[in-house]
Amino acid sequence: MMRESKSVLLENIVKEYISQENKSVFTAVNNISLKIEAGDFVTLLGPSGCGKTTTLRMIAGFEEVTSGNIYLGNDNVNEVTPDKRDTTMVFQSYALFPHYTIYDNIAYGLKIKKMNKDEIKKKTEKILDLVGLNGMENRYPNQLSGGQQQRVALARALVMEPGVLLFDEPLSNLDAKLRVVMRNEIRRIQKTLGLTSVYVTHDQAEAMSLSDKIIIMNKGNIEQIGTPTEIYQQPASEFVADFIGVANFVDGVIDHIGKDFLDVTMLGQSIKLPLKGNKPRCEGDKIRLVIRPEAITIGHEGDYDGLVESSMFMGSVQDYTVRVDNEILKIEDSNPISKTVFNIGEKVKVSLKEESIHIL
Ligand SMILES: Nc1ncnc2c1ncn2[C@@H]1O[C@H](COP(=O)(O)OP(=O)(O)O)[C@@H](O)[C@H]1O
Ligand SMILES: [Mg+2]
Repeated sequence: MMRESKSVLLENIVKEYISQENKSVFTAVNNISLKIEAGDFVTLLGPSGCGKTTTLRMIAGFEEVTSGNIYLGNDNVNEVTPDKRDTTMVFQSYALFPHYTIYDNIAYGLKIKKMNKDEIKKKTEKILDLVGLNGMENRYPNQLSGGQQQRVALARALVMEPGVLLFDEPLSNLDAKLRVVMRNEIRRIQKTLGLTSVYVTHDQAEAMSLSDKIIIMNKGNIEQIGTPTEIYQQPASEFVADFIGVANFVDGVIDHIGKDFLDVTMLGQSIKLPLKGNKPRCEGDKIRLVIRPEAITIGHEGDYDGLVESSMFMGSVQDYTVRVDNEILKIEDSNPISKTVFNIGEKVKVSLKEESIHIL
């Protein structure tokens, strides 16, 4: 049914904006390269202003590249106008036509293409079905909820059967619960159709749950490309570790390098850590370690002495900060209702799961 999904290749893409006032140059995207395979769902994730929207708009053709090459499938599209690029974009503001019915909003692009009426009807009804808007086709946008309007926006993009579907923070205007529903819907539909999707968000949970691959951006650069698991478990930098999930950072020293483990001193004690990754290491190296909160256990027994500095009941977890050897560790203790809960000022013992400690 669908036209073929396309791969996306960015080669050394630079985008500079020149200020109108003083002609100074601002580099919004700083020489990035990446390949997105056909059918993959890839997210550009990073803080506000890091260059996500600019990158997406260059793929769509709304912005010209300052230098570099963009390929959709095998074709260099640098000189191709947006309407000829085989991409469609879903925006944060739904951008629906208020005086058109839902049906006409969705069918609009096909009419512009001068497709025949029967074909338009067939395609539009199929998409209405896919996004769960059956029975709403004669309503107007202001007669729909925010979530339903976003479904119309999605349907309008899908009906064009693009080679690449682009999303710019499409769920930002929805409340937290609806965002979760809609992101599951987007994933389901994307998988059903096998659509190449490039999705921009600053929301790490959204990126983790949707993506085959996540591209972490920072100040116009790519910090890391990886699956959600890789990015969480093997962050390439302190920036990535801090941006995805909660992270403790602790200083350490490598005392000894074994065949498949390292002896490391951290938090005032020696610990054996599995040797992972292929960064060159030397004995005596000062290192930075990432310890995820769920990798730390707290109790009456354990390997390290700690002092509780804060303790907060969050429902499914008890959030602690605990001072250990003059470092502050964030700890999430799951299922607190069935356990002893420690209060501020209490002395505790903590232990670490070695396999969940990552060396940067
Ligand atoms: N048209 C423009 N002119 C000048 N600067 C721009 C323009 N568009 C974006 N920028 C700047 O480029 C940087 C990246 O913007 P953007 O890609 O929108 O970031 P993000 O989507 O990651 O929040 C920001 O510092 C922004 O202010
Ligand atoms: Mg943006």
